[in-house]
Amino acid sequence: METIFSGIQPSGTPTIGNYIGAIKQFINLQNDYKCYFCVVDEHAITVPQAPLELRQQTLSLAALYLAVGLNPKKATIFIQSEVSAHAEAAWIIQCNTTIGELERMTQFKDKSQKNGRTGVSAGLLTYPPLMVGDIVLYNANLVPVGDDQKQHLELTRDFVERFNKRYSQPNQEILTMPEVKIAEHGSRVMSLQEPTKKMSKSDPNKKAFISMLDEPDIIRKKIKSAVTDSTGIIEYDPENKPGISNLLSIFSAVTDFTIDDLVLKYNGQGYGVFKADLAEAIVDLLLPIQTRYNELLHSDELDVILDEGAQVARLVANKTLQRMKNGIGL
Ligand code: ADP
Ligand code: NA
Repeated sequence: METIFSGIQPSGTPTIGNYIGAIKQFINLQNDYKCYFCVVDEHAITVPQAPLELRQQTLSLAALYLAVGLNPKKATIFIQSEVSAHAEAAWIIQCNTTIGELERMTQFKDKSQKNGRTGVSAGLLTYPPLMVGDIVLYNANLVPVGDDQKQHLELTRDFVERFNKRYSQPNQEILTMPEVKIAEHGSRVMSLQEPTKKMSKSDPNKKAFISMLDEPDIIRKKIKSAVTDSTGIIEYDPENKPGISNLLSIFSAVTDFTIDDLVLKYNGQGYGVFKADLAEAIVDLLLPIQTRYNELLHSDELDVILDEGAQVARLVANKTLQRMKNGIGL
């Protein structure tokens, strides 16, 4: 059976972008693959986090994983910092990656441009090796991510090839080569306020994203105020009409309608009707998830599931780490 690893940072409540691009796919994957779903809290600390909030968001994200339908009997669900092999592997990987490779990552360029190189942590630069570790430790063949992570996956593949070449014995590769698995639709959900920029849970403008825990009235308000254009024509044209095209992708991703279905259905109607229906579709999707989330967050069940998940994860991760260390001569 093929193996999947995927992680989300607890750097805020997941948005419908995270849901459409990543979490939604997980639910089907757990039936067909051996799955590891991780809350990557060590990634979150590459930028400053308030300690209590970080802890709370870590548990909250784990509860959300379960609330959307991830099943601990089928998948391993755990918190990254509870498996120390991640930090250890990241060091080994950093020592086999060049600074040049890391400085080329667009996510680093974007974030360091905003704050200046001297104002960002070294961890922001060495974040991709931590991510490489997440993937290789579980021998993942497939990594389901949004479009924004493609470059990091390329780096992972380059690393695996180089590491195996340098350190593996003939016919005994130390690391498994992963493939990237991008969602067909909605692999890049855009900001509701600046539809040329990706929707992100860490956007300081809260109107730019819908969080999975937003209340119905907030969802309605945010969709209503989503930036579109003045033509009032509902058509899918991401280049010239990024706002309405983004809303069409979201609508299609949260319902059984295709984008073509929606364009036909709303032909000749204004943005107002379309937006109102979209808001209700999102509310219908999120309400049951939120109810289950609230039950889980205050239960012992969550702690038990995470403890068991970490135990399983440690066994697998430590084995790979040991192979890496043996290969290198540590
Ligand atoms: P964020 O940028 O919201 O903090 P993360 O870096 O934690 O998101 O990414 C978690 C997962 O969600 C990754 O698989 C990523 O590809 C996916 N993802 C993040 N933002 C989007 C988006 N706007 N559209 C689709 N998928 C996304
Ligand atoms: Na759809």
